[in-house]
Amino acid sequence: MIDPIEEVYLKKYKDLNTDCRVLLTDKEVNSIPRIAGIFREDLTNDFDLLIGLHAHGSNLQIINACKKYNRDFVLLPCCVIDEPLTKRPNIDWLKSLVDFAANRGFEVKKTTLNFKGQNTLIYTDQYLTKIPTLYTITGLPYSGKTTLRKELIKHIDFELVSIDNIMDKSNMWREGHPTQDDWDKAYSVAYEQLKTYLKANEDVVFDGGSLKFSERETQRNIAKKYGARHKLIYINTPRYEIIKRRLRNQKTKERGDLTDSEMEKAFNMFEEPRVNETPLEYSTPEDLKDWIGENLS
Ligand SMILES: C[S@@+](CC[C@H](N)C(=O)[O-])C[C@H]1O[C@@H](n2cnc3c(N)ncnc32)[C@H](O)[C@@H]1O
Repeated sequence: MIDPIEEVYLKKYKDLNTDCRVLLTDKEVNSIPRIAGIFREDLTNDFDLLIGLHAHGSNLQIINACKKYNRDFVLLPCCVIDEPLTKRPNIDWLKSLVDFAANRGFEVKKTTLNFKGQNTLIYTDQYLTKIPTLYTITGLPYSGKTTLRKELIKHIDFELVSIDNIMDKSNMWREGHPTQDDWDKAYSVAYEQLKTYLKANEDVVFDGGSLKFSERETQRNIAKKYGARHKLIYINTPRYEIIKRRLRNQKTKERGDLTDSEMEKAFNMFEEPRVNETPLEYSTPEDLKDWIGENLS
């Protein structure tokens, strides 16, 4: 809810699935998240859908914001009050809104709600089901990022951006490598791939260390720019387990080996996700399938 003025919320509504009337408790009503301020376009990125209920003065802004952030809208307009629009004689306000949205490339649909009065609703449904998600997997080398990603593909259809794969392709694990230059190149290829997939509305898993806050911030900003949701997955594996896996890999050579100094560098570089990054934390040895079912499906 976005409204500068404290409104009295209706407590009664009808659950369309059960066709039953529902009465909310005071506690439920008071816990409806609310932004006490005016609507601003930049708020749009945090929401999947914008709904304007007799949203005086914000209808045009909502349409513009949806255009900018690739979101759908549902508008139940009543009148032209406070809109930056001159009411023209013989021109219907609802039609003006539909034309305004259509001129911005929206295919506007119309329906009516079952009450008397201003009950015509206009809406779009071109983006809601298509908002892509960027999953950033963070965790130390050998923590299990690739294992998680391989399990995840059984639950979610996504495109993969993998630093390891990019490095493999360019043979960056050869003697004396990867150098800092290799890492930089791999990341810039990865970010280009990421942008291409998000632009095409694909869900993406970014499988790289993303050890530093700033790297994760870059990915969050890319997600924001392309109108995608962002989820941070933190694989928290104890260090003794990481060391054990590394020793095992030196024998099996399943993946590229990191030198002692590279391992130390990773340990030093790693910045645990902060609370405000709202990470979804997987702790080894929790059952991976169950964890994905509970957190990501
Ligand atoms: C007709 S009332 C509708 C209230 C409520 N949405 C409903 O459906 O019952 C219009 C509301 O728009 C709010 N409002 C006016 N300008 C606004 C703005 N720029 N951003 C957000 N809300 C605004 C007013 O405070 C008022 O509560």
